[in-house]
Amino acid sequence: MKLYSKLSEVYEAMYTTFINYEEEYKFYNKILSKYKKVNLLEIGSGTGNLAIYFEKNGYNYCGLDLSKEMVEISKRKLPSSKFIEGDMKTFATESTVDSIIITGRTISYLLSNKDLMSAFTRIYKNLEIGGILSFDFIDASRFIPRIKEGEEITHEVVYKGVKYKRKSKWELNLKEGMDFVWEAGYSKKAGNKYLKISDDTSIIRTFTKDEIEIFLLINNFKIKEIIDRETYAFPTYVVVAEKI
Ligand SMILES: C[S@@+](CC[C@H](N)C(=O)[O-])C[C@H]1O[C@@H](n2cnc3c(N)ncnc32)[C@H](O)[C@@H]1O
Repeated sequence: MKLYSKLSEVYEAMYTTFINYEEEYKFYNKILSKYKKVNLLEIGSGTGNLAIYFEKNGYNYCGLDLSKEMVEISKRKLPSSKFIEGDMKTFATESTVDSIIITGRTISYLLSNKDLMSAFTRIYKNLEIGGILSFDFIDASRFIPRIKEGEEITHEVVYKGVKYKRKSKWELNLKEGMDFVWEAGYSKKAGNKYLKISDDTSIIRTFTKDEIEIFLLINNFKIKEIIDRETYAFPTYVVVAEKI
């Protein structure tokens, strides 16, 4: 997968256009405000697009991302904010936080149950008792039946006056869990032609609601809410759980 490393600038161009980060902020701010949380760790903070809003609105924010390139873009954007390079399966914060969010279906990259358990263990350790964990996941029950083998989907965006195009295909991959292989080709307009930037392949995990409920229970989290949410590409659920 190159999208978060070699293609991090293309990610920035495409996703700031696909995703309305102000809406994303409002969505998670509503949850965090409801539970009166302000010391926030965002896992999979990407290029810092949500961080901008959390910083502006008085949160004590820290972003964590596996990719050096994504962290570099975030730091360029918000030089006085805290971003750390780290893996959600192994990370440790300087002190515990009262809330952790994982957005943009980043949990999809934990392909094995071992990885998922490692991440929940680390999250548990770095949260205060009564702390809130909120994350979104692709709903297997709705998304898997929607996958049409071989169907090609084109997304076009304009970012800073430049046209970008992504052609992608999804294919089921049931080797380990209810996953799919996502193949994407990125190109950029130069004159009248699109020039290929790169191809990329990644494996993405979907979950059933029951599966997530069981993993949270095993890891001593109490589910407070499960919110049904359609996004630009996927049917998702957003979980809100409390460390007990
Ligand atoms: C789909 S992007 C979402 C980024 C951001 N939340 C957004 O909505 O724009 C997934 C991000 O998670 C990061 N990531 C993937 N696996 C990770 C892991 N194990 N630990 C921390 N970050 C991870 C990637 O580098 C990437 O920046």
